[in-house]
Amino acid sequence: MLEVDGLTKRYGDTLALSSLTFAVRPGEVFGFVGANGAGKTTAMRIMLGVLAADAGEVRWQGRPVTFETRRRFGYMPEERGLYPKMRVGEHLVYLARLHGLDAAAATRAAEALTERLGVATRRDDAVEKLSLGNQQRVQLAAALVHDPEVLVLDEPFSGLDPVGVDALAGVLLERAKRGVPVVFSSHQLDLVERLCDSVGIINAGRLVASGTVAELRERETTRQLRVVVPDVPATWAGTLPGVTVVSERRGEVVLELGPGVDDQQVLAAAARAGRVEHFSRRRPTLTELFREAVADVPADRVEVTA
Ligand SMILES: Nc1ncnc2c1ncn2[C@@H]1O[C@H](COP(=O)(O)OP(=O)(O)OP(=O)(O)O)[C@@H](O)[C@H]1O
Ligand SMILES: [Mg+2]
Repeated sequence: MLEVDGLTKRYGDTLALSSLTFAVRPGEVFGFVGANGAGKTTAMRIMLGVLAADAGEVRWQGRPVTFETRRRFGYMPEERGLYPKMRVGEHLVYLARLHGLDAAAATRAAEALTERLGVATRRDDAVEKLSLGNQQRVQLAAALVHDPEVLVLDEPFSGLDPVGVDALAGVLLERAKRGVPVVFSSHQLDLVERLCDSVGIINAGRLVASGTVAELRERETTRQLRVVVPDVPATWAGTLPGVTVVSERRGEVVLELGPGVDDQQVLAAAARAGRVEHFSRRRPTLTELFREAVADVPADRVEVTA
């Protein structure tokens, strides 16, 4: 298990992380989401030892992460760190060897990953000659080339075209299947929803929600219904007490129910208005949960140090 336990980090007056705690099981894909400046990169840097926490600890398999353990982690930093003049293939072999692979294994891994991530034909080109998205693919290969035990990737999908997204998603799921805990940050919430077993939403340095996407969607705070009464305007719903029409489109309405409103009465009203084709509870999307979770920034976000 990869455990992030009570991480706190200040930059001057800014409380970048406040007792951040979560755990990722072997084989679990954990999506780390939050607004710009929420603290994702700070947390991931601490997980990889690039940055020291003011308090808290990161553990892998029950033991605090050390310099030695981290060699077996795969990390993709936010500030991409490849040598621009080095050739793609050589670069990957070099990194794999730094992490202890022998020459043959390093070459095999570099070839397999460049193939898999669609940059095999660029192996002999200097990194700087590649387009941004292809450099990104090489950066990903660099994080994966030593067959890491743990993966921590800061916005690995940014800048990739849809084919690149699919290729990377495939590689990550495959590594997870082999028992690797995978943590990645992303602003592409549809992707997070599709790939992740669980999600952590961070707001102003605090984890404000976590769990499986299904669990988060269950824990909704507002009750919404989706009702389809073809070709009938939503006026039937607008007059019901405690019911707000959230959206309306060609007979399909989303309603928000106030406290104590009986959904069966809403159904009866819909049936009076026309032929009810669909009537269901509507679960929020991850994007909606995200908006809700990051809506209020805690007042103590900026701490005045004594
Ligand atoms: N080196 C630094 N010096 C001072 N403040 C910093 C530094 N690095 C980060 N911060 C602050 O810490 C907070 C968290 O930043 P961080 O980069 O971790 O956010 P993030 O969630 O990765 O955001 P993004 O989605 O934009 O990448 C922000 O308020 C940021 O301004
Ligand atoms: Mg960041």
